[in-house]
Order: sequence, then C-alpha cells, then structure tokens
Amino acid sequence: MGTIQLRTPIPGPKSRALGERRAAAVPRGLSHATPVYVAKAEDAWLEDVDGNRYIDFAGGIGCLNVGHRQKPILSAVREQLDRFLHTCIQVTPYEGYIRLAERMNQVTPGKFPKKTLFVNSGAEAIENAVKIARAHTRRGGIIAFEDAFHGRTLMTLALTSKTHPYKAGFAPFPSDVYRIPYAYCYRCSYSLKYPSCNLYCAQHLEDTFKRVVASEEVAAVIAEPVLGEGGFVVPPPDYFRVLSEICRKHGVLFIADEVQSGFGRTGKLFASEHYGLEPDILVSAKSLGGGLPLAAVTGRAEIMDAPGSGGLGGTFAGNPVSCAAALAVLDVFDREDLLERANQIGSRFQKRAKGWQKRWPIIGDVRGLGGMQAIELVKSQETREPAADEAKEVTRYCYQHGLITITAGSYSNVIRVLVPFVVTREQMDEALDVLEAAVEAVAEPQNAVAQVT
Ligand SMILES: Cc1ncc(COP(=O)(O)O)c(C=O)c1O
Repeated sequence: MGTIQLRTPIPGPKSRALGERRAAAVPRGLSHATPVYVAKAEDAWLEDVDGNRYIDFAGGIGCLNVGHRQKPILSAVREQLDRFLHTCIQVTPYEGYIRLAERMNQVTPGKFPKKTLFVNSGAEAIENAVKIARAHTRRGGIIAFEDAFHGRTLMTLALTSKTHPYKAGFAPFPSDVYRIPYAYCYRCSYSLKYPSCNLYCAQHLEDTFKRVVASEEVAAVIAEPVLGEGGFVVPPPDYFRVLSEICRKHGVLFIADEVQSGFGRTGKLFASEHYGLEPDILVSAKSLGGGLPLAAVTGRAEIMDAPGSGGLGGTFAGNPVSCAAALAVLDVFDREDLLERANQIGSRFQKRAKGWQKRWPIIGDVRGLGGMQAIELVKSQETREPAADEAKEVTRYCYQHGLITITAGSYSNVIRVLVPFVVTREQMDEALDVLEAAVEAVAEPQNAVAQVT
C-alpha cells in the first residue's frame, strides 16, 4: 500500500467544519493553499483531521527540508524544554545562541571573519540586513529585482516585486528602493537569449548607477540566488559573478536572500555556493529551525558590527528552543547525505517533468537546482502566455488525490517542489504519478476520468 490514503472526499467533514469556524474567526487576508486541516505529520507526509494521508510537496513552504518531526530535532527541543523556554538574549544570554552563531559563521560561504544575528522570521532578518547595510555604508539606497519576494513587512514589501496579492492596497512603502530585471531567461525582460545576451541584465546594474541612482547612494543590492515565490528561476552560472563584481567596484554590499534557497534545498547548503558567490550578508530562515521559527543574518564581521550596542535585537529573537532545533538541523546535515538526496529528488523530478513537457504543451518550462524544482504552466509553448487558472486546477487536483503542492511565480502559474529530503523513492514516484495525472487532467480535460469535485 502506498503512503497516500484517502478515506473521505477532500476536504472531509471535520476539515469543512474547521473551514467554517476559520471564516468567522480569522481575516480572509490569510489564505490557505488547501482546505484540509492537519492532525499530524511525519517525515514527508501529513494526515488531516479526517484521517486522510498526503505526501507533502510543500514542506511548510520550504521549512522542513530535513523532514517533519525528525528524532534528533525532537530530542534537542525536548532537552531544551526541560531547561528553560525564554529569558531574552538581551537580558540573560545563553550558550545555544552563541554556539549556533559560531556554526553559521563556519557553514556560510566565504572564509573571512563573520558574525551572525538571529531573529524570528525571514522578513525580520531581511529588515535587519538592510539596517546593517545602511549603518555600515552610511548610504540609503537598496536595489532589488523584478519577481523578488523578501517578505510581508513594510520594508520587505517595498523590496518584494509581485503586486497582487502582496503589495496592492498597502502603500506607501519605505522609499529609496530601486528595481532592476532578474535573470529570468524564460521571460527575459529584454527579449534576449543567453549566452548571446552577454548577461545584459547583470551588466545593466552599471547603467542603473548612471541613469537611476548614483552608486554612492546605494547601500546594497539584494537578490535571491534562486527565486522562491518568483517561480524557482535559476540564473545562468556567471550571473552573480558579474553582479557582485559591479557591486564591489562601487562599494555596494551584496545581500543574498537564502530564506527559501538555503539549508540544502538546491543540493548545496546554500545556493550561493553554486555560483561561487560569497555574499557580504547572507539571510537564512525557514528550514534553519527544522520547523520552529528562526532566521539568521550572517555577514562579514566588520559589516555586522556597524550598528551600535542596542541597535539590533528583539524580545523573542534567537529563542533558545529554536536555537536548539537549529543546532540539531546542522548536525543532521553533517551526519546524513541530505544534499545528495536533494539532488536525487531533483533528477527524478526533472526526468518525469521533461517527459510531460514533450507530451503536453501546457508545460512551458521545467527548471530547478537540486531539490528546488518547478514546472511553469502556459497556454501555449509558442506564446508562453501564463496559465494561472490551470496551475490552480493542478494544485486542486493534487490535494484531492493526496498530494500537497503550492504555486509560485509573478503570474501564479508555476508549481513548485519543496518536498522534505527524507521522502522515499516510492513516495516520490507515488507523488509524481499524482502530479502527472493532474497535469493530464488539465491538459486534456476531455480524457479526464471521474473528476472529483
Ligand atoms: C526568499 C524569501 N525571503 C523572505 C521571505 C520571508 O520570510 P518569512 O515568511 O519567514 O517572513 C520568504 C518567504 O517565503 C522568502 O521566500
């Protein structure tokens, strides 16, 4: 018997009842990718309150790279629960925070001296990275990219690109943010082709310093080494070398947002490593805490020390339980071949998805790095018109048949894979069978058998 077990139509009666209570008690602005309510989760699967079991391709949006409820993480958390829950690092500090900072300074790219600050969420970490970059350079400007996602607080929304549903209605945003196109080769903003484009989009940063904002007024360029919410876009190999060289020439810092691409997702601990990129500041979160909330800002020591004493912090920032979990996550990466497993997940996905692309014109692009994989859905492979409704339909078909998936992309037409690395080969095949059936049902609705409603 496979992992997927469905006992009721989806959503089941208990999930439906919770959905009604939710509608009355929780603002509609908080949306759900699926209407099923979780009762428990383990490894790469979860079970809902009606006893239906799913394979989890979302992993809490990339927070569970090591898997749900892994034993070493639970033990570390339990041990910490028996000692103390919270004191506030700014009042009475504790060793776990310091030990984790030491580990982060070692495992992030770059052999130079580093320091690490811990906070609660990816957005809070990006906010702090901007503060630190500004304090160090004494400049205000920040350059971000089209299709970027950096969070939902006001500064990070200013850096985020997608308008609906993230930005619309929430202006005004903090100023001094400038935006340039990303290396989204499938939808090149300049209608050029790599490599004959000679990385025009990266070279364009020089032009931006002439035509948009003077480099001496720019503190940092912030980029995701692989776009997350923006649709799992993987830039060409030499892209970040060109960008970071231009930054260095102008004394502009380079901030890598590895909130989604970090912690092994791309088959290396950080996606920056694929590019030989040594960011001045690297932001990580999500899978760092193995399921608990924690985010890190790691950077060159002299940059991190720019804000004065008391300039950084937060009541719950670097909570001891989250730090204990993160230390266990790093131990798991040291002990187990998770990076290799991420690569195997990627190859298995690519092999199947490339076959779908040949069969069904609805698959415009198959792309990814290691275990960070996606398909981009289009109305036609020629026009590349985004197929957002179809992507939504694929995710609906999937959860109704036992697979939790989520979309991404500025056009909401990308299906992304963030499955925990502990997924077995059998589970991976079972999940890909569901995804394939979902794509077929949407690509060839006339042939679809017994649509579930
Ligand atoms: C690349 C990236 N940066 C920042 C964030 C914001 O993180 P959080 O939701 O923890 O605030 C996200 C969240 O998805 C992300 O993918």
